[in-house]
Amino acid sequence: MSDIGTQETQKADLNWSELIFGYTKTDCNIRYTYSNGHWDEGVLTKDETIPVHMAATCLHYGQECFEGLKAFETKGGDVVVFRVEENAKRMDFTGRKILMQPPSIEMFVEAVDRVVQANRRFVPPYGTGASLYIRPLLIGMGPRVGVKPADDYMFMVFVTPVGPYFKNGFKPVKMIVEEKVDRAAPLGVGDVKVGGNYAASLRAGASAREKGYADAVYLDAKEHKYIDESGPANFFAITKDGQYITPKSDSILPSITNKSLITLAGELGMRPERRPIAIEEIFDFAEAGCCGTAAVITPIGSIRHGDREAVYSHDGEPGPLTTQLYNKLRAIQLSEVPDAHGWLRTIKG
Ligand code: PLP
Ligand code: COI
Repeated sequence: MSDIGTQETQKADLNWSELIFGYTKTDCNIRYTYSNGHWDEGVLTKDETIPVHMAATCLHYGQECFEGLKAFETKGGDVVVFRVEENAKRMDFTGRKILMQPPSIEMFVEAVDRVVQANRRFVPPYGTGASLYIRPLLIGMGPRVGVKPADDYMFMVFVTPVGPYFKNGFKPVKMIVEEKVDRAAPLGVGDVKVGGNYAASLRAGASAREKGYADAVYLDAKEHKYIDESGPANFFAITKDGQYITPKSDSILPSITNKSLITLAGELGMRPERRPIAIEEIFDFAEAGCCGTAAVITPIGSIRHGDREAVYSHDGEPGPLTTQLYNKLRAIQLSEVPDAHGWLRTIKG
């Protein structure tokens, strides 16, 4: 039983099928405080604001990281979260990399359980295409003026019901290769989910959208020769002989969706491979896409690179193998097929 949040079983009054990827207020969020060397028990609160010391390390020195995962209502009416332990492990890795105190795996999972349970009426109904986006956040709270890690941290999780990240959902989008901006350095923090990586991508993302593209594709920062990823998602391609390939790089976020697709692509006979993907190869692929929690699988219809364009969709529809992967992933997330890999965690009612 939650200490706050609604016990109402009635779904919230929202136009579920029209939701965009944006913030909708829910009943509560959960917060845990780390001080004097230990985490407290966590508390659910209705407060949407956070009191932060003006000298906190999250404001000055980028001691901030986050996660993103989703809850779904299944065909059978359960509420499930997808691969939550993987997100917990990634926050542990991220936190340690920038000298923050991460929550334990158990605490992360418990926080997600509690906040989803307390906001159950915001989990979009099965069949609407929408989902409950879960955003865990870890920030350095202690005041520092010298560049040093904080002693105190806050871990919080909020949830918000969302529709597709790219506005048309499972429809091909146009992307453009960004050559003037590097997202992340090879020995930097591109492989962890810190806010600074997103700050670095804002300018290129805005410029891509101004030119009529959905987002930018980044190249590796060292040689500008290989594909890294896009602002909010990993990149994959399907070769003309039906192989699933995805970039191997030290400066991209290890996507949990991509890891799942690699498993599913193997099961579908697509011989998945992670390897450096030279940018010239885009002109040889049969299909391409980006993948992530928010993006799910977003098919790429074309990629502009300088004065050339690689086109994968001529009729505005996704390619056949991208469609197979999407259908298989969605069917697992919505429990339309058995959860053979144990990727779903049921939230107790
Ligand atoms: N790459 C970046 C930069 C992202 O922000 C995300 C989103 O989390 C991803 C890739 C996809 O990762 P995941 O599938 O774990 O959501
Ligand atoms: C996600 O897919 O969860 C992301 O974090 C991508 C983006 C919304 C930042």
